[in-house]
Amino acid sequence: RAKLTRYNTVNDAVHLLQRSSNVIVLTGAGISTSLGIPDFRSKGTGLYSKLEHLGLNDPQEVFDIHTFKDDPTIFYSVAKDIIPSTDRYTPTHKFIAMLHERGKLLTNYSQNIDNLEIVAGVPNDRLIQCHGSFGGATCVECGYKTAGEDIFPDIRAGVIPKCPRCIQRLRPAAPKRKRSSEGPNGRRRRRKNGHDDDDDDDDDDPAYDIPQAGVMKPDITFFGEDLPDEFSKRLTEHDREKVDLVVVIGTSLKVTPVSEIVGWLPSHIPQLYISRQAVTHINFDIDLLGDCDVVVEELCRRLGWELKHEMVTPG
Ligand code: OAD
Ligand code: ZN
Repeated sequence: RAKLTRYNTVNDAVHLLQRSSNVIVLTGAGISTSLGIPDFRSKGTGLYSKLEHLGLNDPQEVFDIHTFKDDPTIFYSVAKDIIPSTDRYTPTHKFIAMLHERGKLLTNYSQNIDNLEIVAGVPNDRLIQCHGSFGGATCVECGYKTAGEDIFPDIRAGVIPKCPRCIQRLRPAAPKRKRSSEGPNGRRRRRKNGHDDDDDDDDDDPAYDIPQAGVMKPDITFFGEDLPDEFSKRLTEHDREKVDLVVVIGTSLKVTPVSEIVGWLPSHIPQLYISRQAVTHINFDIDLLGDCDVVVEELCRRLGWELKHEMVTPG
């Protein structure tokens, strides 16, 4: 996408915000860092640079669905530190809510799982949580669903949350003849060595053969999983025709398909980028570089919008 030269100053950004009535705001972890919530890729402070002790080839494996299914302990060793734990929001969250209050917000596509957009006042029907949230949890084996907070106590206690339905199913109604002296572990060991010719009925039960059966996973979108259906539905069927301004805030745009939104929208729609550093793989019409809270405060000042930023305290 060729860089346009029509707009380039802060005042151009202000005019665009003034005249627009269907703004797509695309956000990432950078809009929450001023609350002490780490982003992912900032060197030194980002979550991924703090995961070296896990010895992964790539720290993103923590959020890889195949890794999770092999060994959920890797994700759960990190999860307790990323459970949403604050109801405070930033001036940037408030800015997005203000766009809504002024009838200018088309959709906020957020990659964040902290839910703070909602706390700040962005309504549910204008928010797409592209990477899901901790609001629900699902059994990777049978699809059983619970409220996300039901598994928080286990996560905080360092226990892998298990599916109540699978646990029920895995508990045999009566002990089986051959296995009673040995238990399922003995059986698994034999099988690994290739000597297992035991083919009694519950060999058909996949849960018996998968050591991690019945693990609950928060409904955050892992690498290798599909984004929520409403993501592409809203983008293609609702927003593409309407959007008149794109504002990207606090994301490195390294993760597809969210990073592709910008290039996929009609190229005449102006695009602003607000973040600490410019990205090199996408050309924006205007880069407003710096701390995003400072940038939005300055935009609001020039717009004459009073950015009433009251922190909401928990409880
Ligand atoms: P990143 O950590 O990749 O990018 C955050 C960006 O925000 C960086 O470019 C920072 O420089 C910038 N930033 C941080 N604090 C800021 C501040 N106060 N003001 C302005 N800019 C600031 O995070 P995301 O782009 O959100 O997905 O990452 C996208 C996805 O990758 C996440 O949703 C997560 C991750 O893997 C999954 O886990 C599926
Ligand atoms: Zn289950």
